[in-house]
Amino acid sequence: MGSSGNFFVAGNWKSNGTKESVSKLVKELNSSKFPSDVDVIVAPTFVHLPYVVDNIDSRYQVSAQNCWVGKAGAYTGEVAPEHLLDLGLQWVILGHSERRSLLKESNEFVGDKTANALAQGMKVIACIGETLEQRESGQMYNVLDGQLSGIADRIADWENVVVAYEPVWAIGTGKVATPDQAQEVHAYIRKWLADKVLPKVSGATRIIYGGSVNDKNSAELAGKEDVDGFLVGGASLQAASFATICNANAKVAA
Ligand code: PGA
Repeated sequence: MGSSGNFFVAGNWKSNGTKESVSKLVKELNSSKFPSDVDVIVAPTFVHLPYVVDNIDSRYQVSAQNCWVGKAGAYTGEVAPEHLLDLGLQWVILGHSERRSLLKESNEFVGDKTANALAQGMKVIACIGETLEQRESGQMYNVLDGQLSGIADRIADWENVVVAYEPVWAIGTGKVATPDQAQEVHAYIRKWLADKVLPKVSGATRIIYGGSVNDKNSAELAGKEDVDGFLVGGASLQAASFATICNANAKVAA
């Protein structure tokens, strides 16, 4: 833990689930145990949000995986922050690499969406991360700078932002970053926030790691100084694995 906030674990269910599987997962999550000082978030599809909000234990917070860049209105197919707030949600994941690459979301667009969501009263899990090609060609820090600037240029207050560092080469590949690789980038992001935003923001902002986190590797990653939690994809669909990950920091502290 390098930040002053609670350890933070978010489960990104991505475009997965049926009414039946979601209800089973919620039931299992409701009987999972984790320390009360860990913030645990789950992010189902838009379609499953109302069910999860109504049925999941209040120890969990619920997040959307995306939202529109402006107010509600004539934007066919989009879901605006107002809709999420109306359901009782506080959190939204923005800038996930799958959206950046498949839907061509630019740094500026992700920054605009972040600013809009925050202005409307939401909290944002803002994702950044480099591809393998960018890492191997020495472009990693430039890429991360651009992604961070896209956000920092558009927001003044970081209180409701969690930064998720997700190296694209580690997402869904089973190829997790080593704890040292994660720590190196997390320390870089923390310094970037101190230098480019404010030391106070750097000390308070949770920087979480994502990319093939599972019940086997989470404790070692959580032991790294600047790893303040996780954004979990695949393993968040298994309640038992997710519970182990939610307990990773307690294991470190014990
Ligand atoms: P993964 O996904 O844990 O399945 O690698 C992480 C993410 O994309 O948030």
